[in-house]
Amino acid sequence: MESPFKGDILKGKVGLLTGGGSGIGFEIAAELGKHGASIAIMGRRKHVLDSAVSALQSLGIHAIGVEGDVRNKEDAARVIETTIKQFGKLDILVNSAAGNFLVPSEDLSPNGFRTVIDIDAVGTFTMCHEALKYLKKGGVIINISATLHYTASWYQIHVSAAKAAVDSLTRSLALEWGTDYGIRVNGIAPGPIDDTAGVTKLLPEDVRRQKQEASALYRMGKKWDIAMAALYLASNAGNYVNGTTLVVDGGIWLSKPRDLPKEAVRQLSKVVEKRSRDAPVGVPKSKL
Ligand code: COA
Repeated sequence: MESPFKGDILKGKVGLLTGGGSGIGFEIAAELGKHGASIAIMGRRKHVLDSAVSALQSLGIHAIGVEGDVRNKEDAARVIETTIKQFGKLDILVNSAAGNFLVPSEDLSPNGFRTVIDIDAVGTFTMCHEALKYLKKGGVIINISATLHYTASWYQIHVSAAKAAVDSLTRSLALEWGTDYGIRVNGIAPGPIDDTAGVTKLLPEDVRRQKQEASALYRMGKKWDIAMAALYLASNAGNYVNGTTLVVDGGIWLSKPRDLPKEAVRQLSKVVEKRSRDAPVGVPKSKL
């Protein structure tokens, strides 16, 4: 789909994306690049990075791939230094690397819990911390989160806890680094996005179909939807936005099963009102 933004809104900017070799991270990398930014992507798998960099370069984007694991502080520092060496500066850090798997809490080992916290929450903090000195000239941070933890989600206790921590980091860094250095720190919480590991691993086809049948609201988002939100937050369009996590899910996180059919509630409501009007004086009236 065609971007509604001008092609040069990120001209001269440099973006670094963790988890930028695939999925949502790659799509954001491509759109930041198509709008003028030079791009560094960080990931654990060389072959994934190599093919992502080729794809970005074939779009005319200045792009490099640097291997590294966000759980490792030395990797984080090295990847950022490589980005600086290659492009001279860093303006936009997107923390998109994440770990996930479905597991009932009772079957999850403390190490499994810690692994996802380490990737999502500690990894995000480590990257922000290592990048700070380069972002002090008015940089932007975008943390990719989720909506799982707004209520509770089956079999994702580790990811819910990790993403809650990420949202908290977003607010705390927005406060401290926004005040001290003018760095804007925001998040994006995607809903179910077509053609991503998040959906193929965590939302089996039959569950997806059931949800689609139950709600007109329910549709898969596109990676493009998330990339457009990232462009908004990374560019001057989002200049006055700091410390927020933008939910991009078509409103799905608000959905819940209907208690009563619409017609039944209309009838019930009329009966209750009538009963309330007809009640003898002195008898408390219904507040319904
Ligand atoms: N169910 C239960 N526990 C699991 C698990 C699963 N499916 N996958 C991993 N674990 C546990 C392991 O048992 C281990 O705990 P233990 O030492 O107590 O046995 C711990 O997690 C670490 O596992 P390991 O395989 O060593 O981790 P890793 O660093 O190689 O892999 C993961 C990281 C687990 C997050 C892996 O799923 C991953 O990297 N996935 C790719 C990223 C991804 O899926 N992104 C989607 C974003 S929505």
